[in-house]
Amino acid sequence: AAEHYTASIDTTIAALHAKLPAELLAPQVGIVCGSGLSTLAEKSLRNIVEVPYAALPGFGESAVPGHKSVLAFGFIGAGKGTPAVAMLGRRIHAAHSHRIAVHPYEGHPMHVVTYPMRLMAKLGVKNMIITNAAGGLNPDFDVGTIVAIKDHIALPNLTGFNPLLGPPTHPHPHPRFLPVSNAHSRALRRLAFLAAHRLDITASGSRLEEGTYAWVSGPTYETMAEGKFLRAAGGDVVGMSTIPEVVVARDEGMEVIVLSLVTNKVILEQPKGSLSVKEELAGRPISKDVEVTVSHDEVLQMGKAKAEVMRQLVEEICTMLAA
Ligand code: 6GU
Repeated sequence: AAEHYTASIDTTIAALHAKLPAELLAPQVGIVCGSGLSTLAEKSLRNIVEVPYAALPGFGESAVPGHKSVLAFGFIGAGKGTPAVAMLGRRIHAAHSHRIAVHPYEGHPMHVVTYPMRLMAKLGVKNMIITNAAGGLNPDFDVGTIVAIKDHIALPNLTGFNPLLGPPTHPHPHPRFLPVSNAHSRALRRLAFLAAHRLDITASGSRLEEGTYAWVSGPTYETMAEGKFLRAAGGDVVGMSTIPEVVVARDEGMEVIVLSLVTNKVILEQPKGSLSVKEELAGRPISKDVEVTVSHDEVLQMGKAKAEVMRQLVEEICTMLAA
């Protein structure tokens, strides 16, 4: 398994070497662009070379609307900029497979979902910036708030779906028992807040906060009881992505920052004043259909609306990383 894995990475890297100028072959920063946030790399990367996953051995197409499928190389940030590689849309590698997307909820094995982290580490990436769309659990976080993740709750990791489960797949020594209490880089978070200050994002009505990301496998959104459960456990936002990538990025020794855009508030209870069925049947006035739900469209819309602030933040962080 280890040899196959190594050969696979080497094959992908050989394909990249054939397509990229030397100056782009040693990215220092990796960027993962979540739902609706792909403009980030398109507008911020200079001397850009886009490599569709389809052109890379072992990469396939993303099946989620709003998720593009390109590995983009270029320079980002002021001055000459920092060489970077960005995943526009979460997509993934699967040897001998054609249509693939990057989320565990699409049924792909975790080592496949996290393959780009291994690849980017091998290319030389030291700092990983991961953006995503997430549901807000913290009642103080309005839609549009950007949350610099300081910690996470990963029920799947605790219950048999940890991305590092299995025989060691990596040729060089990695800890068998990886600590994750420091998974989210404090230094990068500090840069994010400095960047927000420099950009004066509050002037344009945006907010940056710190918080805890609750990772769920999806593809269902949460029930109200599950939302309350995750909130009670300390989650500020909830989402279906990112944490497997964080864990593998840490396994590869990279520094990681996750920036979550709150695209909707998680529904934790029915609207005030709505009656239970029992109350209705007891002769109280029949309430209208009050059930509330979240939709992927809503998530994408808000992602688009706030993508610009997220893009500027990431660009500014990269400027500071180059300095
Ligand atoms: Cl409400 N839940 C989950 N699991 N992921 C989300 C979301 C909600 N909103 C955006 N992403």
